[in-house]
Amino acid sequence: MRKYTVVVIGLGKRGQHHAATFKANPRFEVVGLCDIDQARLDAAAAKFGVPLKDKDAAAVAHAAKPDVFCFCTLPNLRAPMIQLGIECGAKLIAFEKPVALTSAELLAVRQSIRAAGVKAVVSHQHRYGAHYRKVKEIVASGALGRLHTVYGSATGWMTHMLSHLIDYTCWFNGCAPATWAMAQAAGRAKLADNHPSPDYLGGFVQFGNGVRGVYECGAGAPDQPEAAKWWGKCRLGAQGAEGFAEVLTNGGWRAVTKSGGYQSGEGAMNYEMDMPPYIQQMADWLDDDRQLHPCNFDSACQGAEIMLALQRSAAEGGQIALPLATGADEQAMLKTRLPERPVLVSCEQNRREFGLQ
Ligand SMILES: NC(=O)c1ccc[n+]([C@@H]2O[C@H](COP(=O)([O-])OP(=O)(O)OC[C@H]3O[C@@H](n4cnc5c(N)ncnc54)[C@H](O)[C@@H]3O)[C@@H](O)[C@H]2O)c1
Repeated sequence: MRKYTVVVIGLGKRGQHHAATFKANPRFEVVGLCDIDQARLDAAAAKFGVPLKDKDAAAVAHAAKPDVFCFCTLPNLRAPMIQLGIECGAKLIAFEKPVALTSAELLAVRQSIRAAGVKAVVSHQHRYGAHYRKVKEIVASGALGRLHTVYGSATGWMTHMLSHLIDYTCWFNGCAPATWAMAQAAGRAKLADNHPSPDYLGGFVQFGNGVRGVYECGAGAPDQPEAAKWWGKCRLGAQGAEGFAEVLTNGGWRAVTKSGGYQSGEGAMNYEMDMPPYIQQMADWLDDDRQLHPCNFDSACQGAEIMLALQRSAAEGGQIALPLATGADEQAMLKTRLPERPVLVSCEQNRREFGLQ
């Protein structure tokens, strides 16, 4: 079987997860590494036994000409890395959520990726967790009756978490496209974070199949006492006319259905379990165009448009039609329009995590 060469750019937490999982998979060979932090770069090159390393991503990419260009930089770096992945001739670009910080950037990178005809995947890998898959299985079985609502809530702030909430709930909803979104936002403390966000955002989404989406992220989102880890206090689920099924990122799953009564099971988000199938399916898609990766770029873009429409609505007011017709800078809009009033929290732990008095 053919081996695909890989470079990994950005060797922080997620870059290391990617490099380790590519290295462990016999279908891939990691041939180049890059980080602007020399010590981090040297340590990773030694750990993964990769001789080609450079602080300059372009130098590594052009020297290696990899099949897979993987970058795991912070959300401020997307468009230039995607451009580099295209220029170095990669067959697949793998990168991290969120897809883009603004809709102007989203539309530009989508245009570049489509024009180049390159495959791309975005790391929404929680969906490989057994507890997430169980909820998807229950929803897809029809046991909830007519599906009317999907929902996602996370105490972590928007640019970290909303992309995950939307991606998995869209999956529960059969990836039906959305037609509009409307939201409110509060609190300016995390606007300067490296995952810049309002401290709290809550909103509604209308999906074309009639299903309602309800989302909230950040300091005003409710505690999930069943999940001990603060970043795992996410509850995502689906309700139908005959029951509901939901997953807690770090607290298992549960469901009540007309035919099955109450059911529940264990499960907690685990990178070591979730990354191998996510990476393997890149090889499957590279082998065969028909084996579309479940985390493919087009599917992630649908979620990204919803996420950006919610932000645009929070800044401008009113409903925002989807798909987005034009690009805008939602980050700048939120910075200009968010009220100065501090966010009101839903629990003491949120107050501490947001550094509020
Ligand atoms: N999918 C998930 O479950 C998940 C979990 C955590 C983080 N993330 C996402 O992963 C991304 C990275 O997060 P992280 O926690 O790994 O961040 P990190 O800060 O640990 O790592 C980022 C790395 O990129 C390097 N870097 C910055 N600019 C660079 C450049 N121009 N060239 C090369 N390297 C550069 C930094 O030096 C750093 O080592 C973010 O978008 C984040 O939202 C996803």
